[in-house]
Amino acid sequence: MSEPRVPRRRRYLVCEPRHFAVQYAINPWMHPDVKVDVDLAQEQWRTLIRAYQTHGHTVDLVEPVAGLPDMVFAANSAVVIEGRVFGALFHAPERRPESVPYDTWFKQAGYAVQRPEAVCEGEGDLVPTGRYVLAGTGFRTTPEAHREVQEFFGVPVIGLRLVDPYFYHLDTALFVLDDGSGEREENIAYYPDAFSPGSREVLARLYPDAVLATRQDAMVFGLNSVSDGRHVFIAPGATALAEQVAARGYVPVPVDLSEFQKAGGGIKCCTQEIR
Ligand code: ARG
Repeated sequence: MSEPRVPRRRRYLVCEPRHFAVQYAINPWMHPDVKVDVDLAQEQWRTLIRAYQTHGHTVDLVEPVAGLPDMVFAANSAVVIEGRVFGALFHAPERRPESVPYDTWFKQAGYAVQRPEAVCEGEGDLVPTGRYVLAGTGFRTTPEAHREVQEFFGVPVIGLRLVDPYFYHLDTALFVLDDGSGEREENIAYYPDAFSPGSREVLARLYPDAVLATRQDAMVFGLNSVSDGRHVFIAPGATALAEQVAARGYVPVPVDLSEFQKAGGGIKCCTQEIR
C-alpha cells in the first residue's frame, strides 16, 4: 500500500443561491421554461458548504444580489493565486454585473483586483494546477485573456481548446486532483473528447498519469469536482470516475447539486478557491 493522500486546508468563497433561477439560456443545459426548485437548491448548496466545513475548509460568503441568478457560480468571478486576484469580464451581458459585488468583496477583504481587458470567466476557464494555469477557450474566455493572465501572474498559461458546447467551461471537463504542493505529483482528471485533438495531445504530454473520464461521467458534472488533495467532492452520478479516483487513494465525497445542472453548473462552479 502507498502512503495515504494528505489533504490541504482550503479557503473557499461561495454565494448562497437565494436568487438562483434559469431566466436566460447561455449554454445548452439552460432551458428557461424548466422550473428551478429554489428550496431544494438551497438545501443542496448547504450540504456542499457543510461538507467543506466538516473536512476542515474555511468558507467565506459573498452576499447574493437579486436579479443575478447565476451569481451562485462563484468560480467564474475571479482566479486567485498567492493572494493576487484577476477578476472576470463575462461573455454574456446578463452576467456582466456580477463582477461588481465580487470585486467589492475582494477589495473589502483586502485584495486588489486586476480587471481583465478581454472576455475572461475566472476559474470557470482558468485552472491553476500548481506548475501552470490551464486555460480553456472556444466558448467563453478568449486567448487574449490567457495572455493577460500569464502576464499578471507570471505563471505559464497552457491554452486548451474546448470543442463540445456541453462543456463550455474548462471546469466542466477537467479538475485538479493534486496540485503537487505535498509529496505527490501534480495530477488532473479530464474528459478527452471535450478538447480539440491538439489540446488532447498537450494534456497527454503534461499529465501522462491523468485520470480519464467517460462522457457519462462528464454529462453528470463529474469533472466539475473539487479536490483538497485527499477528499474529492464529486457529483454522485459520476460513479465510474469516483471508482477511478478511489483506486488512486483519494476519498470521494458525493454531493448532489442536481438543481444547479439546470443552469449548467455543479460543485466546482459554486466554489472559488482563494489561494
Ligand atoms: N449558467 C452559468 C453560465 O452559463 C453557469 C456557470 C457555471 N460555472 C462554471 N464554473 N462552469 O455561465
